[in-house]
Amino acid sequence: MTPETMQQFPAITTVLKDGTQAIIRPLMPEDGEALGDLYESMPREDVRFYFPHQLDRAHALANAAKAFSPLEVVLVLETPAQRVAGYAWYRWTEEDASRSVFGICIGRACQGRGAGRALMTRLAQIAEKVGPPVMTLTVQEANPRAVALYQSMGFSIVRAQIRQEMEGHGFPPEPEYLMERRVR
Ligand SMILES: CC(C)(COP(=O)(O)OP(=O)(O)OC[C@H]1O[C@@H](n2cnc3c(N)ncnc32)[C@H](O)[C@@H]1OP(=O)(O)O)[C@@H](O)C(=O)NCCC(=O)NCCS
Repeated sequence: MTPETMQQFPAITTVLKDGTQAIIRPLMPEDGEALGDLYESMPREDVRFYFPHQLDRAHALANAAKAFSPLEVVLVLETPAQRVAGYAWYRWTEEDASRSVFGICIGRACQGRGAGRALMTRLAQIAEKVGPPVMTLTVQEANPRAVALYQSMGFSIVRAQIRQEMEGHGFPPEPEYLMERRVR
């Protein structure tokens, strides 16, 4: 996220369903360790659904180090208890790409409290102005909570396909949906 985009879309506060005040803000280079804490706290059941890469501290530090990349937007949800309680992103491969890819991960402690919807809502506001006009994602059929959230945020199913086993993931191939949404 470029410094200009960060200025245009600064931190906002949101109230989670249990009344907790949280902040939604851009990922910063100094969030690396906290992102690593989130990765390391993830139970196997969640890793099954969210595995863009190895979820280790080295990847967390590398992700935070490229916080100012012009080819991605990454937001974190910060609560009084956790500097990075969850995060969501979309990224694309070149300046004039037609599609971006979206991902989201909310830590166990914060799930089911409205954090996912709040992060996606803010991300959608930014995507109206920044990045490709269409956002895509994949989600396993076995993750109905995420499918329902995405549909309610305007994504529709393009096709069903098989998610191949990724190196280091440890789960077998399984059915997934490719979904997309026009963001502007
Ligand atoms: C899936 C995930 C992103 C959802 O975020 P969350 O913060 O837990 O979800 P929210 O509290 O914002 O709830 C989103 C909606 O899902 C609904 N929901 C919850 N469980 C559901 C279920 N089993 N089926 C259908 N809808 C469900 C909620 O009611 C809520 O709708 P509402 O806003 O109208 O009340 C989050 O739980 C997560 O990161 N899980 C682990 C990793 C993962 O699955 N990532 C996605 C990979 S594709």
